[in-house]
Amino acid sequence: MHTHLIVVGDIHGHWSAADVEQLDSEGADAILVVGDLAGLRWSATLGVARGIAALRTPTLVLPGNHDGPHPGQLLAEVAGQQQLGDWLTGTLSRRVEALREALSPHTLVGYSAHRIGGLTVVAGRPHSMGGPTLSFPGHMAAAWSIETLEASAERLCEVVDAVDTEDVLFLAHNGPTGLGATRDAIFGCDFRREAGDWGDPDLAVAVEHARRRGLRVRAVVAGHMHRRLRGGGQRRWRECRDDTLYLNAAEVPRVARQGRHHVRLDLTPEGVTARDCWL
Ligand SMILES: [Fe+2]
Repeated sequence: MHTHLIVVGDIHGHWSAADVEQLDSEGADAILVVGDLAGLRWSATLGVARGIAALRTPTLVLPGNHDGPHPGQLLAEVAGQQQLGDWLTGTLSRRVEALREALSPHTLVGYSAHRIGGLTVVAGRPHSMGGPTLSFPGHMAAAWSIETLEASAERLCEVVDAVDTEDVLFLAHNGPTGLGATRDAIFGCDFRREAGDWGDPDLAVAVEHARRRGLRVRAVVAGHMHRRLRGGGQRRWRECRDDTLYLNAAEVPRVARQGRHHVRLDLTPEGVTARDCWL
């Protein structure tokens, strides 16, 4: 069986009616959006969500770290001042609900499983900023009763345990740990001199758990770590390990001279291919 998926990387405000027309005309089975719909303005985020809602193709959207947090909360998070961020948590919870409404009839996903034919898409942790700490802990505790990355890993494993197809694909905002610690690694850190692996450890646990359960992990799809590196150069954007295709779809900005970017994923019994497309 052949499953045709479209993956849309970090949008950061670059969405228009042309995307709806072009992506729907591809005739894909589903569209996966890895998150970060807009930059700093909340009204722009909601506008992109309403634009995505116009798609006729079934679409799953995983919220990124820019999808809901107040700019002050993002800054607090980056500065490690999470208590200040927690103070703004009420805003984030309200915004997540507004985002969910704006995307309807499509689905805002997270810690959830979604069937696409014979494939199950397992949606990872919402709002991840990557790295070894739980992003937005106040919100994660209030909305999900999750206070640590270990608890997040457990929750993801519970979602995996309920999967009743052999084939599974993980959709996350940021990719898993274990794929390299150099700045040009697929989820490597490019914003500090010592580089390092900036993947999500909870996602890595869940992927390994799925394999141990005997599931066939076809692909792990994420973004967040922009392909264009700070200070120059490009990171690796696809990688095949343990029979799984890892994809970083974060071509930012996704609208450039070549056109409007998405990744086409084809899943066949023989394997998975990922191809950059500029329409
Ligand atoms: Fe992000």
